[in-house]
Amino acid sequence: MTAYMAQAQENLISIIDLQRMKQAKEKISCLTAYDATFSALFNQAGVDVLLVGDSLGMVIQGNRTTLSVSLQDMLYHTKLVVTGSERAFVIADLPFMTTATPEQAAENAAALIQQSGAQMVKLEGAKIETIEFMVQQGIPVCAHLGLLPQSIYQMGQYRVQGKGVVDSERIFTEAIAVEAAGAQLLILECIPAPLANKITQQLSIPVIGIGAGAACDGQVLVAYDMLGMSLGQPAKFTKNFMQQATSILDAAKCFVHEVKTGKFPTIEQSYQ
Ligand code: KIV
Repeated sequence: MTAYMAQAQENLISIIDLQRMKQAKEKISCLTAYDATFSALFNQAGVDVLLVGDSLGMVIQGNRTTLSVSLQDMLYHTKLVVTGSERAFVIADLPFMTTATPEQAAENAAALIQQSGAQMVKLEGAKIETIEFMVQQGIPVCAHLGLLPQSIYQMGQYRVQGKGVVDSERIFTEAIAVEAAGAQLLILECIPAPLANKITQQLSIPVIGIGAGAACDGQVLVAYDMLGMSLGQPAKFTKNFMQQATSILDAAKCFVHEVKTGKFPTIEQSYQ
């Protein structure tokens, strides 16, 4: 047996598994994680994908935005998450200004993958040239459209995107373009459920939503929101799974169950 084959026999979820789940209409469960213990617990709970989000700037570092997160921060936290993970597919965020040019993006993504062990990197916005360049270099890319937290000061406030016809068509066109550029996964944040549904039907890559309605191929929540640890008023699309659980492991299991059975999110937890 070759080393490649031995690795394939490990229980690790791959992008092929996520594609199969889309085709089989099995919902993909995803939580953010920032350290080895949460990573191990979420693995035990059966979470399919762990996102080391730059949301860590807010929930771990206590900042108002994600803008202060550095590549070094992402390397540190992603390594911890990979250490605790046995099965889940691990995605690491490329933080603010680390994708300013295609070359910088590819270099920073390579560092994240090589030094932390992440299986994919995520970048915000429809940076088509950058995605194409990264994919040409062999980098697995997750795109992120809709609400873009790294653009908070351009947007002015965190709010639902794609509500009017023009904005909705723009996001739909961007989704088609990121897939054509080679992105293998797409995260849609805070957009109306009907628009997310249309995108999910149109694309052949898996689409994971946060505040994007039930029709997406999967759901992601910031773990601290899922555990009822939001400091301010929780967003409409989050749910505190600790209310029905006796431990963090149990809450994560409830999250996985409700995503897989379509119980989460409800219409009340979605935008129309
Ligand atoms: O940084 C993050 O946690 C994210 C999710 C909200 C999708 O990008």
